[in-house]
Amino acid sequence: MNNSKLLKPRPLWSAALAAGGLILGAGALAQDASATNAAPTYLRDVLPIFMGKCSRCHNEQSRFVYNWLDYRTAFTDRGEIRRRIWDSWKGTYFKESMPIANSPESLALTEAERLTIRNWVAGGGVRGVAPPPGADKSKAQKIPLGKQLFTSICSACHQPTGQGLPNMFPPLAGSDYLNADKKRAIKLVINGRQGEVLVNGQKFNNTMPAFPLSDDDIANVLTFVYNSFGNSGLEVTPDEVKTLRAEPPDPSGPPAPSQYE
Ligand code: HEC
Ligand code: HEC
Repeated sequence: MNNSKLLKPRPLWSAALAAGGLILGAGALAQDASATNAAPTYLRDVLPIFMGKCSRCHNEQSRFVYNWLDYRTAFTDRGEIRRRIWDSWKGTYFKESMPIANSPESLALTEAERLTIRNWVAGGGVRGVAPPPGADKSKAQKIPLGKQLFTSICSACHQPTGQGLPNMFPPLAGSDYLNADKKRAIKLVINGRQGEVLVNGQKFNNTMPAFPLSDDDIANVLTFVYNSFGNSGLEVTPDEVKTLRAEPPDPSGPPAPSQYE
């Protein structure tokens, strides 16, 4: 099937509002995932998986499928979530397994992540609490935390190597778009983006959802990306993210050609 049919135009201002109202600290996942996997919570363990592996189709703009980035919705439908990500996938439930077969997300979702979701449902679908932002971190501290977020969220689309997928997801590895303008990159992760974009001479025209990530999380994940895959080595701070969150989103669409000359 053509998955791009599932991507509906989305007003970016509403994504900005939603991002402002849903801040959480998924970064805590990085600190104690193994210690807590027996009793996962939504905010700490499950939401990062939903952001990375479900949100392209299940987001706040989708009209015909549910938005799993909303706790209430996910909690209410948790039994069906478990059946689709586990029983269908094992062949013991007849409805289509999730994520949809052969989508990049279905290839990226790991057995451990399926177990985390299953255990979350078995444990009653607990919401948990968003961890408070930690103390200021050094660049060296941000990189491993950001790597965890990259792996659970960004890599399903941009791929573990950061190379992206042709015609679908642009590369983060050696990306001229990323390295040319740090503010633009931060705002893109805060607000999401849709429309035409030119990265390393290749054209893409798709949608990246806005994610409910905290300032800390965005600082960590972008610092990891900037210090990986042959990128420019910049650092992003939570304060920079906070300042840019207050600004209106950048207009989506093709950038001025002069940026690439
Ligand atoms: C490529 C798009 C896509 C991705 C990625 C995706 N889904 Fe879906 N999902 C759909 C579509 C389309 C439907 C509606 C068709 C159906 O019910 O089989 C659906 C239906 C569902 C349903 C049934 C809801 C109900 O009660 O009827 C569940 C549960 C679900 N998805 C869970 C997930 C979870 C959890 C993930 C991530 C781990 C995920 N999906 C990833 C496209 C997607
Ligand atoms: C559901 C798939 C998906 C996920 C998950 C995702 N992205 Fe994207 N990303 C895209 C798409 C699609 C575009 C291009 C959007 C367009 O066409 O306007 C993009 C564009 C970008 C760009 C600008 C273009 C480039 O390649 O330099 C950056 C930077 C970026 N994403 C970073 C991230 C980071 C960091 C994460 C994890 C927090 C992330 N993305 C998660 C799909 C995704």
